[in-house]
Amino acid sequence: MSIKSIQKTFGYENYQVAEGLRYFKPESTKFESRFAKEIHHSLQQKQKFISPKFFYDDRGSRLFKKICSLPEYYLTRIEIEILKKLKFSLPQYIEQQFRLVELGSGSSIKTRLLLDVLDKTQDTIEYMPIDISDILKEESLNLQKEYDNLQITGIIDTYETGLEFIKDYDKKPNLIAFLGSSFGNFSPKSGFEFLKKINNAMKESDLFLIGLDLIKDKDVLEDAYNDSQGITAQFNLNILQRINQELDGNFNLENFSHVAFYNDDENRIEMYLRSLENQSVQITKANLLLSFEKDELIHTENSYKYSITKIHELLKSAGFNIIKIWQDENSYFALILASKQQLDGISTSKT
Ligand code: AVI
Repeated sequence: MSIKSIQKTFGYENYQVAEGLRYFKPESTKFESRFAKEIHHSLQQKQKFISPKFFYDDRGSRLFKKICSLPEYYLTRIEIEILKKLKFSLPQYIEQQFRLVELGSGSSIKTRLLLDVLDKTQDTIEYMPIDISDILKEESLNLQKEYDNLQITGIIDTYETGLEFIKDYDKKPNLIAFLGSSFGNFSPKSGFEFLKKINNAMKESDLFLIGLDLIKDKDVLEDAYNDSQGITAQFNLNILQRINQELDGNFNLENFSHVAFYNDDENRIEMYLRSLENQSVQITKANLLLSFEKDELIHTENSYKYSITKIHELLKSAGFNIIKIWQDENSYFALILASKQQLDGISTSKT
C-alpha cells in the first residue's frame, strides 16, 4: 500500500514541519467526547476510577517528565543505565537497516541512545514515534536539530491505531520500542491483548524492545510513587484539574490527596485520590453530579511489577521469542529484546 492510501485509510492529515520531519494526525479527533464518555462511566462505578491514559495532557506530560528525574523514581535512571550499555550489545541484533518505532514519544535521552545505535551503521536513520499527545511535535523538533541524517515521521494517535498504521507501511524492519515500564499500567488482560496487537503488527524481521520494572523491596517501590517533593501527588491531582478545565468540572483540588501503596498480592503499585471530606462535585460536560464520602478513593493507576519468570511466560504466550534480557546489577529493571519468529538460544544476562 502507498503512503497516500494508508493515510486515507486512517483519515490522517500529513503535516510537513521541516525537511525530514513530518507527522500524521487524524483530521478530526473525537477526543473531548471520548473523554467525557469515559469519565461519565468510570466515575459512576462503585469503585470510582479514572483511566491513567488521561494523565497526559500538556501539564501532566511535563509533570511526568519531572517524575522521571526524581531521585526516588529509579525506573528512568536505571533503564537509561542499561540502555547505555546496550550500545555495545544491541548492534549484533540489528545488522540490517532498521527503523526505530517508539510507542510513546519517549524521554529524549532514551530515544537518543537508541538512535545512536542505529546511527553507527546507517547513513540515514528513521524514527517513528507514536503518541496521542501533541508533545510529540516538540520532542521531534528538538531531536531533528541534533541529527542531520534523521527522518522523523510522527503519528499523533493511539498506540493501537499507530500499530495498525505501521503494519503495512513498508518492508523495512522496525525496532519497536516500548520503554519506561509503560506496559505496567495495563491490566493483565488488556496488557496481554496489547502485546498480541504489537506481535500482530510485526513483520518477521521486526524486533521488539520492552522495558519492565521488576519486583523488589516494598519500601523502594513505595518511595518511587510517594516522592518527597510531592511531584507524583501533583501529577495524580492534575487529572482532576484536567477534568475541571476540559469537561467543565468543579473539583476542589484541596479536598483530595494523593495515595500510593504496593499491593504484594497483585505485584502492583496502586494509586488513588482520597476525598478529604464529604463533598459533591459537578462535571457539566460529562453530565455528572457526584457525591464523595470522606476517605472515599478514586482509583487512578496500577503499575505492575514483574518477575523474570513472569516475563518469559507473558511474552511467550503473546507470540514472542525472547532473544535477550538485560538487567542492572540489582535486578531493579529489565530490558527485553524479542522477535516474532522462533529463535534458538534464549539467554538472560546482567549488564
Ligand atoms: C508511565 N508509567 C510507566 C509510570 C509508572 O511508573 O507507572 C506513571 C507514573 N505514575 C506515577 N509515577 C509515574
